[in-house]
Amino acid sequence: MTSSAPPPNPSSGPTASSIAQAAAQLRQGDLVAFPTETVYGLGANATDDQAVARIFEAKGRPRFDPIIVHLADPNELHSVTASVSDDARQLADAFWPGPLTMVLPRSDSIPPIVSAGLPTVGVRVPDHPIASQLIEMAGCPIAAPSGNRFGCISPTTAEHVREQLADRVQVILDGGPCRVGVESTVLDMTSDTPRLLRPGGVTREELEEVVGSVEVFEGAQPVDQAAPAPGMLARHYAPSTPVKLLAELPTTVPPCSGLLVFSTPEITDGWAHLEVLSRDGDLVEATAGFFAALHRLDGHNLQQIIALPFPNHGLGTALNNRLNRAATQAQS
Ligand code: TXA
Ligand code: MG
Repeated sequence: MTSSAPPPNPSSGPTASSIAQAAAQLRQGDLVAFPTETVYGLGANATDDQAVARIFEAKGRPRFDPIIVHLADPNELHSVTASVSDDARQLADAFWPGPLTMVLPRSDSIPPIVSAGLPTVGVRVPDHPIASQLIEMAGCPIAAPSGNRFGCISPTTAEHVREQLADRVQVILDGGPCRVGVESTVLDMTSDTPRLLRPGGVTREELEEVVGSVEVFEGAQPVDQAAPAPGMLARHYAPSTPVKLLAELPTTVPPCSGLLVFSTPEITDGWAHLEVLSRDGDLVEATAGFFAALHRLDGHNLQQIIALPFPNHGLGTALNNRLNRAATQAQS
C-alpha cells in the first residue's frame, strides 16, 4: 500500500542505540511508545503482567478491553498462540508484516491480563522498521494498544503521544508520521467463518480474496458497557469538540464550526477551520491524514466539528467506523 504521508526519516529518528536502550527498559517493565505503520503504540513486555497493568493505568483503559500482542516475525506466532488454523497461516503469509490483527487461541506464555481474561489473543506483526527492531532487541512480544488516552483520538505522530501521555510513559520513539494512519483490521479467527471485529488498514475486500467470505460484526455496544469485542464501544476516537456527522453539507455554515471532508467541497467559505483530506479523492491519502486532521480541528476551540461520510468501501469503511464513533455522544 502506498501513501503520500512522508516516510519515517531515519536520519532524524531514533538510532540503533536509542532503540536498544528503549528495548532494555521494556524488558525491565517500563512503557515505551513506538511508531507502527498504522498508529503509535504504547508498549510493554507482553509476558510481564505488571508491565501490562501499567498500560491500563497510563491510558485510563478499562480492564475488560484486551490488548494486541506485537511480534517481529510471523514465524513466532506459535509462541503466543495455542493453535493456528490453515486460514490464519494463509492470512499471515498474505498480510504480515502489515495492518492485520488476528484473534487466535491464547498460549499460556501470554498472561490473562493482556487479553482481559479471554481465552484468545490478538496478534499482529507491524510493518515498521523501528517497531521491528524494538521487538527484536527486547526479545519478547510487545503488548501495545494505541498510544492515546482511552476513548481519545489515536496518535499518528510522536507529538500526539506526548500531548496525551507525556507524563505516563518512560520513552517515546519518534519515527515521524504513520504511513497508513488508521489502526489494524481486527479479525476473529476462532469462529468457523472469520469475523471482522474492527475495520482497519487491510480491507474486507483484500481479506476475502485470501479466505473467501468474511462475516462483519455489526454490534457496537452501548457506551461504557462491556462488549464481546470490547474495543467496539460505541463512543471512541473522540475529540473533546462535539463531532456532528451529516449526510450532506449544510446550506448555511453554522458559526464557529470546523469541517472535515474527504475531498474538496463545493463551498469552502465561512468555516472557522477546514480540513480536506485528499483533494484528488484518494482514500489512501485521506486515511493517512485522518487522525492528524481531527487532532488539528480539536485544537481550534470550535463549537463543533462537522464531518461528511467517506465512500463506504475499502479504507473508507474504516474511516466511517472511526467517524461514527467519534460522533456518538457520551450518555450520562
Ligand atoms: O494498529 C493497531 O492495531 C494499533 C497498533 C499500535 O498496533 N493498536 C491498536 O490497539 O489499535 P487498541 O488497543 O487501540 O485496539 C485493539 C483492538 C481493540 O478493539 C480490542 O478490543 C481488540 O483489538 N482486541 C485485542 N485483542 C482482542 C481479543 N483477544 N479478542 C477480541 N478483540 C481483541
Ligand atoms: Mg485504540
